[in-house]
Amino acid sequence: MKVKSIEFPSGKSTALNSSKKVVLPILTLIFLTTIPLYLYKDSPNSTLPRVEIINGSVPLFQKNNLPSPLHFAQNTSNDSKRVTLDYKCDIFKGSWVPYPRGPYYTNETKCVIDDRQNCMKFGRPDTEFMKWRWKPDECDLPLFDAIEFLELVRGKTLAFVGDSLGRNQMQSLTCLLASAAYPVDVSYVDDTKFRRWLYTNYNFTIAALWSPLLVGARDADPNGYSLNSLINLYLDEADEAWASQIENVDIVIIAAGQWFFRPFVYYENGKVVGCHICHKRNITDLTRYYGYRMAFRTAFRTLLRLQNFKGLTILRTYSPSHFENGEWNKGGNCVRTRPFTKEEVKLDEYELETYLTQVEELRAAEMEGRKRGLKFRMLDTTKAMLMRPDGHPNHYGHWPHESETMADCVHWCMPGPIDTWNELLLQMLKMEDQGAIEGKLQKYA
Ligand SMILES: *[C@@H]1O[C@H](CO)[C@@H](O)[C@H](O)[C@H]1NC(C)=O
Ligand SMILES: *[C@@H]1O[C@H](CO)[C@@H](O)[C@H](O)[C@H]1NC(C)=O
Ligand SMILES: *[C@@H]1O[C@H](CO)[C@@H](O)[C@H](O)[C@H]1NC(C)=O
Ligand SMILES: *[C@@H]1O[C@H](CO)[C@@H](O)[C@H](O)[C@H]1NC(C)=O
Ligand SMILES: *[C@@H]1O[C@H](CO)[C@@H](O)[C@H](O)[C@H]1NC(C)=O
Ligand SMILES: *[C@@H]1O[C@H](CO)[C@@H](O)[C@H](O)[C@H]1NC(C)=O
Repeated sequence: MKVKSIEFPSGKSTALNSSKKVVLPILTLIFLTTIPLYLYKDSPNSTLPRVEIINGSVPLFQKNNLPSPLHFAQNTSNDSKRVTLDYKCDIFKGSWVPYPRGPYYTNETKCVIDDRQNCMKFGRPDTEFMKWRWKPDECDLPLFDAIEFLELVRGKTLAFVGDSLGRNQMQSLTCLLASAAYPVDVSYVDDTKFRRWLYTNYNFTIAALWSPLLVGARDADPNGYSLNSLINLYLDEADEAWASQIENVDIVIIAAGQWFFRPFVYYENGKVVGCHICHKRNITDLTRYYGYRMAFRTAFRTLLRLQNFKGLTILRTYSPSHFENGEWNKGGNCVRTRPFTKEEVKLDEYELETYLTQVEELRAAEMEGRKRGLKFRMLDTTKAMLMRPDGHPNHYGHWPHESETMADCVHWCMPGPIDTWNELLLQMLKMEDQGAIEGKLQKYA
């Protein structure tokens, strides 16, 4: 899909005239929907690579508990650590610059890396994709400092609400923190999609609340669930899977994307209001953006209305995929080994609309939140990730002999560019913390 940069089959780069709209966000998107099923389906006959399941949970640590050689080789104490960023610097606007020292951790670090994102384990031959850092145009992004992060979140709970890309970010965070502390599994349920990890010394909890559609959803296809089966989406009802767990959470990182591109019948107030590619003559097609918009509106309103919720809400913006050389389910892959430059790519029409839709809803919530003293912020990773066609697992999320045919150009290798999401998150939390301190000082001045 959305191969914004390539024209087939010549491979000529047409990054800037991406008017050549590639069909299929829909399908890519559906592709994402299948990941969790693959990962957690427990069928012993399944030939799909699977994470090792222990009492229904992903093991907390990898078997090989060696510390990351890279991490310890790296002397970061002289780096731009604990530097406070200028408030005026837009940390989300920038480019990728070479960073030969490489990543913070490896596939052997004591942290969970799902096999499907464990590119080194499965023999990805190139390593250059791990040797870039995000460089904001107007400042430097400080290196991730695990102790600093843990001190900032001491006593708090951070929840990732959304789909498997949220879990991807959560695992990246635990790997980044592994140089300082390991968590214990304190999950309430066996379902791996609802992990809770506690950093005992910091009384800091990370929770995954899996809810790819954010709102209520029910299978509606007479033939059962499949990649593009019809789902009823209850746009004005927040999914209880997260909504019932969120009231005492201090930091909510919410995100949604690819799942919204499948066929839906949209409901509001219990009545059908429209659909997306449902092919029913008496139901209006309201487009995918309608459902996406309303789901975020409902999610944000739910947070605004929860009586005891006092947390910081962070929207992690849309994460672009990078299928080239074919559609996601027709041999499409992502074989690049270098980032794009700013000039080489831009968001295509679909991505831009998706991005703007969620940003508009976030802005509305931000205004409403101000009245209630609730903060809504944006972890605006879309443009940075658009430049990283080289950061996806492609076929390195499983052994070559395993009968996996589809490439994964949706999730992100670990280590890899997704680690930057947490470098950015740390800076955001620092700024919030500072803002809070300054606010207090002003009050007492
Ligand atoms: C699963 O949990 C039960 C009870 O908590 C425990 O006795 C058992 O050893 C666990 N199994 C594994 C494989 O961890
Ligand atoms: C790291 O660098 C600093 C300053 O250059 C130095 O004082 C310190 O001893 C170094 N630490 C290690 C472990 O090499
Ligand atoms: C530490 O910073 C100083 C001053 O910026 C620089 O001269 C020195 O080379 C740095 N040392 C390391 C180990 O990066
Ligand atoms: C880590 O990756 C290397 C190749 O880069 C591989 O040889 C090794 O077996 C991997 N280790 C684990 C625990 O996956
Ligand atoms: C840990 O944090 C929770 C809030 O997240 C708080 O209720 C609890 O008292 C804290 N426990 C300790 C031992 O500080
Ligand atoms: C659409 O038509 C079908 C079949 O005639 C009917 O069952 C359904 O209730 C109609 N839906 C709406 C929203 O009118």
